[in-house]
Amino acid sequence: MSDQLCVRLGIDVPVYQAGMGGVAGPELAAGVSNAGGLGHLGCIRRSAEDTRAWIREAKALTDKPFGVNLVPPGGGVDGFEAQLAVVLEEKPAVLSLFWGEFSDAISRAHDAGIVTMVQIGSADEAKRAADAGADVLIAQGTEAGGHVRGESKLADLLGRVIEAVAPLPVLAGGGLSTADDVSAVMRNGAAGPWVGTRFIATQEAFAHPIYKQRLVEGHGVDTHHARAYSYGWPFGTPYRTLRSRRYWDPLRWVNGGVRPHDKDSYARRFSLYCGSGVDAIDDIPRAAEIVARLTPESSDV
Ligand SMILES: Cc1cc2nc3c(=O)[nH]c(=O)nc-3n(C[C@H](O)[C@H](O)[C@H](O)COP(=O)(O)O)c2cc1C
Repeated sequence: MSDQLCVRLGIDVPVYQAGMGGVAGPELAAGVSNAGGLGHLGCIRRSAEDTRAWIREAKALTDKPFGVNLVPPGGGVDGFEAQLAVVLEEKPAVLSLFWGEFSDAISRAHDAGIVTMVQIGSADEAKRAADAGADVLIAQGTEAGGHVRGESKLADLLGRVIEAVAPLPVLAGGGLSTADDVSAVMRNGAAGPWVGTRFIATQEAFAHPIYKQRLVEGHGVDTHHARAYSYGWPFGTPYRTLRSRRYWDPLRWVNGGVRPHDKDSYARRFSLYCGSGVDAIDDIPRAAEIVARLTPESSDV
């Protein structure tokens, strides 16, 4: 299943970098794709023209396949439909979708020759996405950093999703940082790992240097799955962040990501999107190094 999906996508190894809003830009996507995996642009909240600009930048940095991630309720100033129109024109290899209604986006992507992936949090949601024509499902466990769709741990969710949508390929996401993590999900039937947080701590990620350093120093016990205020989302939407240990600081209640041009004080003081696999992050290498470390052993595929 893993090999078949690589062949279909034209990639060398089954390592899938998650579309992460803001922090997954052209350099990271191209860095992952040039190393043989599938990189992704996280285009939530970008205008249509900014979405196009990132796709073109990525195309200039790699001639390998990459994906574009859209989140319908986070369509930016022009809205989801305008972002989607750009994707259909620019034709990246993959469109991945997360959260909310995307009605006919899957069939329109197919008409444009684009493979579709949908990140889901339950077997029922996976079935609905498969019925809508999704080519690949991404099972997101509660260990995941950023916004969290599901309410089950990855190990419990993965088998249920695989069973619900067989024979479609299912990627596994949430808390995966090491080769052992990848082996475990591959042995449980995943077609590959969908990895977010581990790729934030790379040279190419469009994240503030203090954010990257906090991931290196962070501990899994400090991550929590909660439903309070997260920047740009309705109050109560579930997310996982690395809680700030500045207990006296009111800004620790802000949950978000921080980009290179944002204030240093935000990167130091916010609680930052982060998966539970942060304990295993202890360096900030090039993205290609992470692709190499996470490439499954042939015995696991
Ligand atoms: C900073 C950050 C931003 C994210 N933004 C998005 C997004 O825009 N779209 C999306 O589909 N998933 C998003 N996610 C969730 C990822 O797709 C994926 O489920 C998660 O990163 C996997 O868990 P991990 O971070 O422990 O590897 C985000 C995750 C992080 C950490």
